[in-house]
Amino acid sequence: MTIDYIDKIPNNVDLGRDRVLQRALEHWQPAYMGWWYDMGPSESHKLDVYLRTAISVDPEGWAQFDYVKMPDYRWGIFLAPLAGERQVNFGANKGLPAWQECPGEFRSALRRIIVTQGDTEPASVEQQRMLGFSCPSLYDLRNIFQVNVEEGRHLWAMVYLLHRYFGRDGREEAESLLERRSGDADNPRILGAFNEPTPDWLAFFMFTFFTDRDGKYQLSSLAESGFDPLARTCRFMLTEEAHHMFVGETGIGRIVQRSAEVTAAEKLDDPDHVRALGVIDLQTIQRYLNFHYSVTLDLFGSDVSSNAATYFTTGLKGRFEETRIKDDHVLTDAVYPVFEVRNGEIVEQPVPALTALNERLRDDYIKEVTSGVERWNRIIAKTGLPVRLALPHKGFHRAIGNFAGHHITPEGRVVSAEEWQRHEPEWLPSGADHAFVQSLMTGRVVERGKFANWIAPPRAGINNQPLDYEYVRFN
Ligand SMILES: [Fe+2]
Ligand SMILES: [Fe+2]
Repeated sequence: MTIDYIDKIPNNVDLGRDRVLQRALEHWQPAYMGWWYDMGPSESHKLDVYLRTAISVDPEGWAQFDYVKMPDYRWGIFLAPLAGERQVNFGANKGLPAWQECPGEFRSALRRIIVTQGDTEPASVEQQRMLGFSCPSLYDLRNIFQVNVEEGRHLWAMVYLLHRYFGRDGREEAESLLERRSGDADNPRILGAFNEPTPDWLAFFMFTFFTDRDGKYQLSSLAESGFDPLARTCRFMLTEEAHHMFVGETGIGRIVQRSAEVTAAEKLDDPDHVRALGVIDLQTIQRYLNFHYSVTLDLFGSDVSSNAATYFTTGLKGRFEETRIKDDHVLTDAVYPVFEVRNGEIVEQPVPALTALNERLRDDYIKEVTSGVERWNRIIAKTGLPVRLALPHKGFHRAIGNFAGHHITPEGRVVSAEEWQRHEPEWLPSGADHAFVQSLMTGRVVERGKFANWIAPPRAGINNQPLDYEYVRFN
């Protein structure tokens, strides 16, 4: 399964055999480049970046590393190979052969799923476009650019599906994906978290740890889809996504390490004293964590959702690791617990499992982020400090689902609006917190092997290169 790089659009879908589709995509390509120049990383056309490019979709050695100017990145269309005779593995159509074309009755639901996923990809590039100016090292600069070009490729992946399977509606949706803008008042991105600014590197690492991981869970459940082209597209996207979450987890880990080491070595207990040394205090890190975690939990949607039930029953969107779950994969009689606020208390409420699939996916996600936070806490523990980071209660600061409209503390207590407001500065990053974090990030660190004062160096370089490798060349 090698990729055809001779074509204008690299692909492993035999694009050359479908002239109409090829022409439609070649028509979209300049609009995409226009968007990249407008909204992609600032200065991206001037720098040579040590990037990996997919050259095959084989699990072994699919990537090649070399210096690339980002606009010359070989964005293309790569699907995981056909896996024999796949079936629909869940829902009312379980046991039917997987669909190779889009079934007419599911067209609008599928298009909506693909557009919603596709919209997040350019959104995050837009959110991050200015961060290159304040990078803490060449290593980190290279990593954010890698994430950006791969999010661009994920947009290509979704646009291919729209063009190939949804005719004229699909082509119109593909154009709209280049027209919406993150945070724009008139034409915003579809989902809330993708309209929030990513103003600094602490926010960027939190975003890649928490929000890219929402992407992983959404892609994983779409990788189970009975619509085979979607399943295969998402399976390949997941291999790229893993690196984004690595960037987030190690980025926060390195900031936590620096913070804990300075705090412990200087025996500091006042966050202002930590800040005075040009390091981010653990309290501020906790507040950023609370924010990014809670807005990301909202991305999973309402706790009880008839759309989620329909997507599952029809076979369009499965559960996380669907085929490994030991049950009937139909869920007609199963129940699942969700939570709601009743008379000022959070109470458990069993509902039909089919309607609780968003909540179930959210719970699967929470398990994984919990272990990430534990790994950060081990870094703190090594310095001897007694402080620990913690995930807030899942009802904290929620705008979607059963907790929306309620005031819930990080410990999970329902409180009044007044009490909430009084404590908000302890729980969520304030303007002053943002101003402080940004004051540390006013310029970029581009000397080989050097790292900003507020972050520890990583344990290893990229692709076995040394830490002082010239990951980005300024020309
Ligand atoms: Fe992505
Ligand atoms: Fe990502």
